[in-house]
Amino acid sequence: MKIPFRIAGNWKLNKNIKEAAEFTKGLVSAIDVKQQPNVTVYPPALVAQTVAENLKGSKITWGLQNCYSQLEGAFTGENSAGTLKEMGGSSCLIGHSERRIYFAETDLQLAVKILCLQKVGLEAVLCVGETIEQRRASLVRPIIESQLELGLCHADFSKPIAIAYEPVWAIGTGEVARPDQVFEAHSVVRSWLMRKLSESGEKIPIWYGGSVKPDNAGELARVENVNGFLIGGASLKIADFSAIVKESL
Ligand code: PGA
Repeated sequence: MKIPFRIAGNWKLNKNIKEAAEFTKGLVSAIDVKQQPNVTVYPPALVAQTVAENLKGSKITWGLQNCYSQLEGAFTGENSAGTLKEMGGSSCLIGHSERRIYFAETDLQLAVKILCLQKVGLEAVLCVGETIEQRRASLVRPIIESQLELGLCHADFSKPIAIAYEPVWAIGTGEVARPDQVFEAHSVVRSWLMRKLSESGEKIPIWYGGSVKPDNAGELARVENVNGFLIGGASLKIADFSAIVKESL
């Protein structure tokens, strides 16, 4: 079974309500209807309603960049996976390196967030990846494996789930991982999945993220075990994002 290639845009903390509305409308007309089911956008939570309204009638899906590890309760300032589902979202990023670094999220917190998402029937996308210091110390494999082992310790692999390999040194830096580095890291993820799940490990999508741009997307999309992209900077411009969709699908 071939895994359908996914192109995901992580807007991070960018776009206000007006910009999100205009951008979403523009994206729907820029992306071929046949390719729309392969595209997902992750807007900031406060503009999600606007995005949802403007995506109605299209096949492009949306999700959030984070959610809390409980569905409700006295957790000031957090967002619930249950409400995301209610709003028509279908997916949520978990453990993006910016969450791990700036908000001190731990692997075990991420594992509970995934449990929450799966409980309400949403796709969880677990982000993993090493820092430059870890790469220089030849720790790419152990770091990825421990992030997978802990982050996925409660995961139900029969439900929608994806892994995004995002080397921290390639995020927002313009320094993209070389195809051989992507191949190597994605092989680590795939082998871990196969050890855990036998043949079903072949069906779990592995996305690459880190400075994906229209001029490197085609080459990276052809690397074995690259089943999608998670795009930050280049997902904020319709021309770049739709060019990546055309290059990769
Ligand atoms: P970038 O971000 O494409 O701007 O490097 C990727 C990400 O953070 O998901």
